[in-house]
Amino acid sequence: SSADLDHITAAAVVAAEKAGAVIKKAFHLPKSVIHKGKVDLVTETDKECEALIFGLLKEQYPDHKYIGEEDTAAQGSAPQLTSAPTWMIDPIDGTTNFVHRFPFVCVSIALVANFQPVVAVVFNPIMEELFTAQRGQGAKLNGQPIRVSDCNDLSSALTATELGTARDSKTFAAVTHRLAVAAEATQSIRCLGSCALDMCCVACGRLDAMYEVGFGGCWDCAAGALIVEEAGGQLLDPSGAPFELMSRRVLATNAHLGAAAAQVLAACPEGPLEPGP
Ligand code: IPD
Repeated sequence: SSADLDHITAAAVVAAEKAGAVIKKAFHLPKSVIHKGKVDLVTETDKECEALIFGLLKEQYPDHKYIGEEDTAAQGSAPQLTSAPTWMIDPIDGTTNFVHRFPFVCVSIALVANFQPVVAVVFNPIMEELFTAQRGQGAKLNGQPIRVSDCNDLSSALTATELGTARDSKTFAAVTHRLAVAAEATQSIRCLGSCALDMCCVACGRLDAMYEVGFGGCWDCAAGALIVEEAGGQLLDPSGAPFELMSRRVLATNAHLGAAAAQVLAACPEGPLEPGP
């Protein structure tokens, strides 16, 4: 019911704000960085925040399932999604930014039920921006309703993508080729370092489109997906096929640009999808 969703949203906001306070406090301090891959980083703060969020939510929702970025990395196997209520949590999306003190970092928390996100919270504690959405209830930034942009011409669209964390030559060649093609087809392109915040930027009209192929996992896109949808945007697979939550691929646009953007991306060579955790 909507009262339940209100309660769940409030719990997710509290968890995101508590983790956000930890991130903000650590932001300007030196960090000890662990390499999960050549450019895939994790810090003590990622782990501390994930444990904090898991703890707060499990206390209230002990029967739900939980998929977290760091927990998945520790388990070393790809998470399986069922129809049961499942929380998808990225304690810091934009860990590289966090390490470098580039202020584009967030906590991303989504509750997924029957394979669909129903509650979403993305909180950037450095810029003090809280994006929230409930299925059917619209999306908000700091409590104010947000809408996607109305740009209807791909060549005037401001777009974002990410380089991801794979650096093997075949994957990287596919990623950079796609980026060059997208840059040519649009007004310009940004790589800001957080898949979740890129999606929120589409939701509030700062960006007209974003895509990424091969990001870390469902925790990077689950909350952003609902926020984009509830702000009136389109969610697709970059090939133009329907968006799939567990595929580690996304194209998110305003209400006009989905098909045109997918056409451009679908013409690019795929390259190998980096094996997941
Ligand atoms: C990363 C960011 C980045 C994307 C990577 C993700 P993390 O998440 O979302 O934008 O390119 O694929 O892994 O590791 O900072 O949570």
